[in-house]
Amino acid sequence: MEKIFHYPLARIGIIGGGQLGKMMAQKAQKMGFHVTILTPDPDCPAAPVSDMVITGGFHDEEKISELVQQSDVTTIEIEHINTAILKDMASAGHRIYPSPDLLEMIKDKYQQKEMLKRHGIPTPAYHFVDSPGSLKKLGFPVVQKACRGGYDGKGVMVLRDERDIEKAIQAESFIEEYIPFEMELAVMVARSIQGDIRCYPVVAMEFDDRANICDLVTAPSGLDPALEKQARDIAVNTVKALDGVGIFGVEMFLSNGKILVNEIAPRPHNSGHYTIEACVTCQFEQHIRAITGLPLGAAELLCPAAMINLLGEEGYAGRPVIEGLERALSIPGLSFHLYGKDQTRPYRKMGHITVIDRERSKAIEKALEVKQFLKIKGEKQV
Ligand SMILES: Nc1ncnc2c1ncn2[C@@H]1O[C@H](COP(=O)(O)OP(=O)(O)OP(=O)(O)O)[C@@H](O)[C@H]1O
Ligand SMILES: [Mg+2]
Repeated sequence: MEKIFHYPLARIGIIGGGQLGKMMAQKAQKMGFHVTILTPDPDCPAAPVSDMVITGGFHDEEKISELVQQSDVTTIEIEHINTAILKDMASAGHRIYPSPDLLEMIKDKYQQKEMLKRHGIPTPAYHFVDSPGSLKKLGFPVVQKACRGGYDGKGVMVLRDERDIEKAIQAESFIEEYIPFEMELAVMVARSIQGDIRCYPVVAMEFDDRANICDLVTAPSGLDPALEKQARDIAVNTVKALDGVGIFGVEMFLSNGKILVNEIAPRPHNSGHYTIEACVTCQFEQHIRAITGLPLGAAELLCPAAMINLLGEEGYAGRPVIEGLERALSIPGLSFHLYGKDQTRPYRKMGHITVIDRERSKAIEKALEVKQFLKIKGEKQV
């Protein structure tokens, strides 16, 4: 029988209020959901577009309980949170997606690797660091990763040779085979409560070497269709192995014609921002549909796209000053996103642009042109 809905369709709680939370809240509200966010910073990007804000930290048991209790379904935009309290609340019958068990596993990168290995998903070789000597186990160069707390390349360290051991991360960590990849790829995959799956196109990611932050994302990836199929199959199998509900970003390396999974984001992902303009259903709406038990939307690419992150310029801080906006907006097919962070700092993710064009190469060309002149500077020089 066709279910009947009342307005608001449901109360959604989101842990985190950054740009991912903002775009998620906007799409949820568009569809008639009520949104409450939990954030330590009441001036965060998601606050102005949410119905309610609970101010509290991501480890604050009381505030997390309050959010979960007043929500029909709770989700996250960041995985570095108190999962223990979420596990208790899920056991008590509250709906939390992705599941707190899954979040707990993912937020520990070593546990994540163990899960990938258990399910036979290709991933670089790795070894737990339990003594200074074990840093040498895979030879050099090698990549050392903190088990917990890393993001945007923080918590990742390349040890070029034995002398770099003195720079090694001191927190609990593992080492991973250094992959001299030709390309970094990502695939967004959505899975609903009922187990339906939608797989987005494969995108190519390029990184800003200065900050190790994802810089240019292009869809389609431009790869050979057979390799694209392989990447999509691996991404779908990964999300099935996780039994995940919601949207997931599966980051991969292409090296020597082989695809290896780097890591999984259990939420919307920077590499999926292009879906807002270029896909039938964007990653944020898809996530909301998935966690509320609604039918998933189509994930097809409507038009090639290139996305560029707008990072705070080096040398500036304080209130953002945007240069080149009119010139950027005069480019046909360009969409400008500013997250509403009132303070910039070097390499902070302040916004992004997506350019769509019927020709992939033109989309990339325009996006790279914009990168040259569209700048987020600040009122203060640092
Ligand atoms: N095994 C590896 N070999 C070569 N380069 C690697 C390896 N692991 C990670 N890197 C590089 O470091 C980047 C950051 O690593 P990773 O994705 O694990 O960390 P992160 O802090 O979670 O990053 P993000 O938040 O940007 O996804 C990768 O995108 C890749 O460019
Ligand atoms: Mg990553």
